[in-house]
Amino acid sequence: MRTLRPYLRFAQLTDLHFTAQRIARYPTVMHVLERTIDDLNEQDLDFVLLTGDLFHLPYRVERDLVEFRRIFDNLRHPYYAAFGNHDVEGDETAARKALLMEGLGDRGLNLGSPWYSFSPIKGTRLVVLDSTDSGDADYHTWRGNFKSRQARWLAETLDAHRDEAIIIGMHHPPVTPFPLMDLLKFQDRDLARLQWALKNQDHVAAILCGHYHLTGSHPFGSTQVLTGPSLVEHPHRYRIFSLHAQGEGKGHLEYAVRQVPVSPIEDAACAKGRTVRFRTAALSHVLSTNRNGGYTIALPH
Ligand SMILES: [Fe+2]
Ligand SMILES: [Fe+2]
Repeated sequence: MRTLRPYLRFAQLTDLHFTAQRIARYPTVMHVLERTIDDLNEQDLDFVLLTGDLFHLPYRVERDLVEFRRIFDNLRHPYYAAFGNHDVEGDETAARKALLMEGLGDRGLNLGSPWYSFSPIKGTRLVVLDSTDSGDADYHTWRGNFKSRQARWLAETLDAHRDEAIIIGMHHPPVTPFPLMDLLKFQDRDLARLQWALKNQDHVAAILCGHYHLTGSHPFGSTQVLTGPSLVEHPHRYRIFSLHAQGEGKGHLEYAVRQVPVSPIEDAACAKGRTVRFRTAALSHVLSTNRNGGYTIALPH
């Protein structure tokens, strides 16, 4: 029996940490990204969502953007991005955001704003948030930021699209799944703003994040926060989401981890790197619970 194609099918890549410069921390990053694009091109997807830390070195973004585009221009699916701390950290954050929006153009951050929304398929809406919005010209933290203007925009957007199933993409998870990583936490007041905007919005199907480089699934209000595995770190994984319509206003959101086919020999430089990196990779492996899963969501018809 032939399986029906899902209503919506997309991939989430997070924490690519790309740089064209050969660095000790992620020596195989360019190769991994090229293999990832090949892998994505073999699949039937509506789009690819990038939840931040596209780049590793904020001060090199202008130069690395050229090579990043060269690789991503081979992707046959549309892609949409959120900012991560590594993309914009530093003194001239506003200028760097403008540069990225311009450079990624209509295939990356497509609506000329750090936060935006659109409907990829009737009845669904992707909402991309900017959790690096500190309200200042500069951004000097690893923590999630979310100011009032974005909270108001989110509340209005969710109110205006109550007849759609909403998927939110943002870099920083608004939960603290790993308590020892305090430096990465969402700022308390900013978290309260996000919670205010999401109050009574039970049509939010999922909030997809990255940042911790660890895979997880955590209840958050009436929805779930799903943190994705980092692409850059061994064993180079991303997630594929499938939304199946079930009728009577219900759908099923499924997610499955996919490993980029980079052989251990190709990847040896990365896997056998410094202790810190190996520990992170090993930790990710051990703590990566809920790699595959799914749950029922409201799906207006
Ligand atoms: Fe990251
Ligand atoms: Fe991050």
